[in-house]
Amino acid sequence: MLHIFDPNARTDRDLGTPPPPVTEKTVRLSIDGNAIAVPEGTSVLRAAALAGIQIPKLCASDNLDAFGSCRLCAVEIEGRRGLPASCTTPVAEGMSVNTQTDRVAKLRRNVMELYISDHPLDCLTCPANGDCELQDMAGAVGLRDVRYGYEGENHLVAEKDTSNPYFTFDPSKCIVCSRCVRACEEVQGTFALTIDGRGFDSTVSAGQDDDFMDSECVSCGACVQACPTATLMENSVIEQGQPEHSVVTTCAYCGVGCSFKAEMKGNELIRMVPFKDGHANHGHSCVKGRFAFGYATHPDRLTTPMIRNHIDEPWQEASWDEALQFAADRIKAIQAKYGQDSVGGITSSRCTNEEAYLVQKLVRTAFGNNNTDTCARVCHSPTGYGLKQTLGESAGTQTFDSVMQSDVIVVIGANPTDAHPVFASQLRRRLRQGAQLIVADPRHIDLMTTPHGGDALHLPLRPGTNVALINALAHVVVSEGLEDRLFIAERCDPGEYAAWHAFISDERHAPEATESTTGVPAESVRAAARQYANARNGAIYYGLGVTEHSQGSTMVMGIANLALATGNIGREGVGVNPLRGQNNVQGSCDMGSFPHELPGYQHVSQDAPRKAFEDAWGVTIDNEPGLRIPNMFDAAIDGSFKGLYVQGEDIAQSDPNTQHVERALGSLECLIVQDLFLNETAKFAHVLLPGSSFLEKDGTFTNAERRINRVRKVMPALAGKEDWQITQDLANALGYDMHYDHPEQIMAEIASLTPSFKGVTYQKLDELGSIQWPCNDEYPNGMPIMHEQTFPIGKGRFVVTDYVATTERANRKFPLLLTTGRILSQYNVGAQTRRTDNQSWHNQDWLELHPHDAEERGINEGDWVGLTSRAGDTVLQAKISTRMQPGVVYTTFHHPVSGANVITTDNSDWATNCPEYKVTAVQCEKVAQPSAWQERHRVQHKKQWGLLKTPEATEPVMK
Ligand code: SF4
Ligand code: SF4
Ligand code: SF4
Ligand code: FES
Repeated sequence: MLHIFDPNARTDRDLGTPPPPVTEKTVRLSIDGNAIAVPEGTSVLRAAALAGIQIPKLCASDNLDAFGSCRLCAVEIEGRRGLPASCTTPVAEGMSVNTQTDRVAKLRRNVMELYISDHPLDCLTCPANGDCELQDMAGAVGLRDVRYGYEGENHLVAEKDTSNPYFTFDPSKCIVCSRCVRACEEVQGTFALTIDGRGFDSTVSAGQDDDFMDSECVSCGACVQACPTATLMENSVIEQGQPEHSVVTTCAYCGVGCSFKAEMKGNELIRMVPFKDGHANHGHSCVKGRFAFGYATHPDRLTTPMIRNHIDEPWQEASWDEALQFAADRIKAIQAKYGQDSVGGITSSRCTNEEAYLVQKLVRTAFGNNNTDTCARVCHSPTGYGLKQTLGESAGTQTFDSVMQSDVIVVIGANPTDAHPVFASQLRRRLRQGAQLIVADPRHIDLMTTPHGGDALHLPLRPGTNVALINALAHVVVSEGLEDRLFIAERCDPGEYAAWHAFISDERHAPEATESTTGVPAESVRAAARQYANARNGAIYYGLGVTEHSQGSTMVMGIANLALATGNIGREGVGVNPLRGQNNVQGSCDMGSFPHELPGYQHVSQDAPRKAFEDAWGVTIDNEPGLRIPNMFDAAIDGSFKGLYVQGEDIAQSDPNTQHVERALGSLECLIVQDLFLNETAKFAHVLLPGSSFLEKDGTFTNAERRINRVRKVMPALAGKEDWQITQDLANALGYDMHYDHPEQIMAEIASLTPSFKGVTYQKLDELGSIQWPCNDEYPNGMPIMHEQTFPIGKGRFVVTDYVATTERANRKFPLLLTTGRILSQYNVGAQTRRTDNQSWHNQDWLELHPHDAEERGINEGDWVGLTSRAGDTVLQAKISTRMQPGVVYTTFHHPVSGANVITTDNSDWATNCPEYKVTAVQCEKVAQPSAWQERHRVQHKKQWGLLKTPEATEPVMK
């Protein structure tokens, strides 16, 4: 019988070599007498594995190009001389392969004998015992004896490298198979490892005399994953032993949404192994998802509900019932006194779709108003607005895999190697294959120095001038006749195109005219526009450097205009791709977290959807939008907003103008914080409801590709309740009847009320692995690429995007522009990553400034620098860096004590109120002591932890 194998079949097995390029051609061959057919270009090793025949192997792995160094995979092929390596031999029509003959058995035993003669014989005490490919292969080839003895020259006393906090390199166990080196190059794209020396002296090296920690290594774990021995090994396995069972779940850090196998021993998480069949990550990971999970069991975790009457009083432990009733009574009393609209809720982009859905449902039912918002307000709300206006859907258009078809990749205001690292590795692979990169960013980002990635074209614009730049790019496209006229004629609204064409053709948008505004040389803008417009496939990826501006929404629409004008929408390799920040920021927006939209972006003023929700929920829903987060703050300070329920978001640290936020939070009569830790916001709280980590719950996250991934519970909730249960109980305590036994039922309700989720079920998610919405009758398995034939609004809509300079300008008092961003090892407010060994890489926020600006102010590397804006001042340590352009300074905001958001102002996007984090006019000077705010913060921090009567294990204080 002939077996035909699908090369893309879902499997978690290692098939030895990667699938060949997609082809229609099939090759028939026989392996050990089995007739099989596989796609042309498949290796004999992979063909055998697909047929269930395991050929021994050591240097091969199906995520790495075949290398052919170990010779263990030798086979006999009828009519061919010698014993070819099956990993480097492609199948051929009519080939007859024998994988088990005396000759290959002898060769394999000889190979293994040589390896084992220079390998410690400590299998029983080795941490990899039971999970070691070398051990397995010794068994598979039937090795019983080592004729050379173990006394010869060997590497058994080579010293271990324990510099990395998460894994150990033990060279005594290395068989120099190069899998780690190739994983670092091919999978991660960092090129940190080499094989030094030749022959017997060959060793793996992380750089000239560097240990792992001092090398280029970014601790992604790809080499550890690739190593077939215990040479590179997770410290958690060394210390705790091999895991016993595993559960597939989704990373809770960034919007890439990597799938992992959580490998467990009882209820203890031993390691997170990137899942090969993860549709967003294909078995790769970054340091956060792979290693930074220790926060989940950190001693700082809140495990008991707490209540207090006033924020200066000590916290009182309470039962769940007491705490929830206390919270409900206070909210009801506030509403009785100040009115129904005096309270609101904030959903979390860290929590699941089901949990975000329940919080907005609680606000709209139990609170009886639309005062619900989410942290997407401060990151990607302009994406939602801008893409809805132009393309008709508030989401990115592509899959991550689509980038492998892109020829020109434009990255605007994003830093993927730090903020979306696994996607960055894929992007780098495409750059190594020859795609052209264009980066529009004030800083020289690391992506531009991709090893073997070619030269990137940098458009180093001044912060705040995005719209002038995108208009200049579009002007070149139009004035040089580079538009895709057919696409425009067929797919776009003609009237709006004509209006936009007239607008953008104006000479005021010419690169030569905008050069003095943007700071980008006109010839660079022209070159970038030509490259993008002339590309077979041009793709735009953008991040918070686009949205967090006073014209964030305008810029998103400007990007969509450019993509429409060049026909770069609706197929593989193109598109408009927002790189969403947090794990479930797409999902929290989809779930109706905004005050103007019900789940599925259905406006509250639309009668039909509102009626459907009213019928399902048994309440009347206000047809007017409620308060956004900044409106809530203003109303709190004015005295008309008095109660707030915050699920998993640290608004006191993450929102701009910290002192304003603190005043608002301090004005509340009831602040309910549901979180893992006593965060900055919780210091102003009256009720603390201990939340559950992603390891402790079931549900779904939706990543930046609209991909709905399952989150699966791997351990019991530390405080006894999953977040959705807490919200449900609070709703019931408030008098609104809510009852679900499992998040699957919540998803069923979401699907029944949200057209784009109509076909989503847990069963389908389990079957397909993931689903990219919309998932409905027309697209029962989801829609990977959007807008292929039509837009949800019919025609693509061009929007006139006038550039309006921000009011936040450099002047004599504040001559520098501050822009903020993230770093690889920390995540957002750092609540999780600061409670892991990721602190080894970034234990404080630094102020990066150009040598010219530093010299002018007499600032040296490591000096304490006072940073002042019109909103406030703080003190940070200086890092002198040519990544900055003169006049622009940069910092991250991962550590509360840095007070980065004390500096940022409350300027915001005109359409969505997304804060203008990326442009703050500042001055800096050398100082000797912390700022007044930092001193107050230190005192408040100590006091609030004292009121909790639990000493904090990781106290964030200035050195
Ligand atoms: S460290 Fe592991 S993967 Fe790297 S060469 Fe040695 S045995 Fe192979
Ligand atoms: S951990 Fe990642 S970056 Fe570091 S050496 Fe291994 S593969 Fe390279
Ligand atoms: S890239 Fe993002 S989703 Fe993937 S492991 Fe890293 S933090 Fe998690
Ligand atoms: S697995 Fe084929 S040569 Fe090593």
